[in-house]
Amino acid sequence: MGAEKIIVTPCTPHVGAEIGGVDLTKPLSDSQRAQVHDAFLKHGVVFFREQDIGFEDQMRLAGYFGHVHIHVGGEGTASKPAPGFPAIRAQHFDKNSKRISGEVWHSDQSCADIPPDGSILIQKILPPDGGGDTLFASAYAAYEALSPAMKAFLETLTAEHDGAKLFDKAGTTVYPKAVHPVVTTHPETGRKLLFVNAGFTTRVVELARDESDALLKHLFDHIAKPHWQMRFRWRPNSIAFWDNRCTQHFAIWDYWPNVRSGYRVQFEGTVRPSRG
Ligand code: SIN
Repeated sequence: MGAEKIIVTPCTPHVGAEIGGVDLTKPLSDSQRAQVHDAFLKHGVVFFREQDIGFEDQMRLAGYFGHVHIHVGGEGTASKPAPGFPAIRAQHFDKNSKRISGEVWHSDQSCADIPPDGSILIQKILPPDGGGDTLFASAYAAYEALSPAMKAFLETLTAEHDGAKLFDKAGTTVYPKAVHPVVTTHPETGRKLLFVNAGFTTRVVELARDESDALLKHLFDHIAKPHWQMRFRWRPNSIAFWDNRCTQHFAIWDYWPNVRSGYRVQFEGTVRPSRG
């Protein structure tokens, strides 16, 4: 059992932890899986370093924690399926890229009735002079910092999430739309969190348009405060495994015309976001 103990080093008090003591090119024991899952629930996103894994390893790792999900995005998305592995999205960006995936605060595909529970992303090639970091924010801590009156107000509201806002600026494709509570309860931890994001959320259903715009701007600015976020600096073969139900992330495109290239799998969502 001693050799199976993983090492969990928090990145900040609210979000993120690095995990050491595991080799992801090999199957994990039940104990290791349970420890990784506990760290994932506690920290919202966990990171692994120097894991030279292939597609089979990435699929095995994802299989420990859920069912893999096929992305809903089509022509308008900046990532493509990896050859032979439709559940793995190749996220390759270079001098020819017109845009990248996720360059806005968002939780993945909140436009779905049941958004993905999480993702596992590995980077293989990174820009030579740094850059291409990813920011992660805790939607628990953002909710908890609100005043009691604001929390009570938000808990009465629902919001529309529209795939077209992020995936299809030209408006040529029909993407999913969903309405979710503005404050949800995480189905595994039981903690409340703020469930609106700048990438997909278009309006608060119960408010007039100008009221909705003002409130969403306030909440998007609030989520983006540095107090409950962290910045992950990738190295080749670094892995991020995030809980899409309680975190948001933002991929920084500061490296054009250099290359950043990696692969992502997502877990199918298991329950509709709800007030709990
Ligand atoms: C994403 O939003 O899935 C992209 C994250 C990243 O590339 O850092």
